[in-house]
Amino acid sequence: MRLMLVGFGVVSQSFAEIIQSQSTKLARDYGLRPRIVAAVDSHGAAVDPSGLDIPLALKSKKVSRSLSGLGADVYTEGKAAADVIREVECEVVIEATPSELTKGEPGLTHVRTAMKEGRHVICVNKGPLALAMPALMELAGHNDVRFKFSGTVGGGTPVLDLAKKCLEGCSIESIRGILNGTCNYILTKMTSEGVEMKEALAEAQKLGYAEADPTNDVGGFDSACKLVITSNYVMGTSLSIRDVDIKGITEVSMDDIASARSRGNALKLIGFVGDNAKVTPEEVPLTHPLNVSGTFNAITFDTDPAGEITLVGKGAGGRETASSVLRDLIEIRKDFAR
Ligand code: HSE
Repeated sequence: MRLMLVGFGVVSQSFAEIIQSQSTKLARDYGLRPRIVAAVDSHGAAVDPSGLDIPLALKSKKVSRSLSGLGADVYTEGKAAADVIREVECEVVIEATPSELTKGEPGLTHVRTAMKEGRHVICVNKGPLALAMPALMELAGHNDVRFKFSGTVGGGTPVLDLAKKCLEGCSIESIRGILNGTCNYILTKMTSEGVEMKEALAEAQKLGYAEADPTNDVGGFDSACKLVITSNYVMGTSLSIRDVDIKGITEVSMDDIASARSRGNALKLIGFVGDNAKVTPEEVPLTHPLNVSGTFNAITFDTDPAGEITLVGKGAGGRETASSVLRDLIEIRKDFAR
């Protein structure tokens, strides 16, 4: 199966490493033989219909921060992703450019172009979905292509699939959860080690958890995107990020954390959708299943008749999120086989 990686950051690089190291298992267990025929980053595009040299691409990124090390036959400086999507034959486009939350660009154009060209799309970029999810679902249907986005919520934790596939027959009345690994990492560091917010954020950035623009994390916008995507996908709403009341953690102080603690609670950034949609710092009892630490995400689905179901898992990280991309790819492969 021919793949195109649009955006070659932490998630795409981890994904390329994983499909390379697991190639035997993927072929044996799923009949999946992925071949990356193009990779595009903010500097330019590498294209090779016979498959890119993955170890060399990863090395080139490390050494020069671009794909230029693949050589002039393969790499074109300044080539735009939308042109590559139109010109290069492939079955699946993986959109993993940084999330931009005002217009959703350039990801939105990449996704639309890919669908119009008849390519299946796996989207890790939250911007296009947070702003235009209903329209993109319709466009995918219209062009008869698969549109998958497991990696947009919960990193590697199968939040969307659990709610959609394992809760058939239940109605989901509300969703409440910790949806941003960076904020949870920061709040955990502030609570348990007394580390200042700025310092904890710098650590989260260094570890590759934060967004390209970390304002999206600490401002609550990334959580709002995930809330919108989850609600639309599992509750059938048609929300956009503009429908969510958003307050991030930037004003949370050590005093707020200490006073929550004195009441036997932890301060967490909580996303909620039910009779309204909001993201706000809230106190959670220390004994509650949502009280998870570090980069963990936790999400509670309040269902009828099964009651509350809480799912916990790592919500950020390149390898974790790449595992979601792989799940989506395997599902597309299974659809092909059927
Ligand atoms: N910046 C995001 C987070 C990455 O910290 O949760 C995963 O979407």
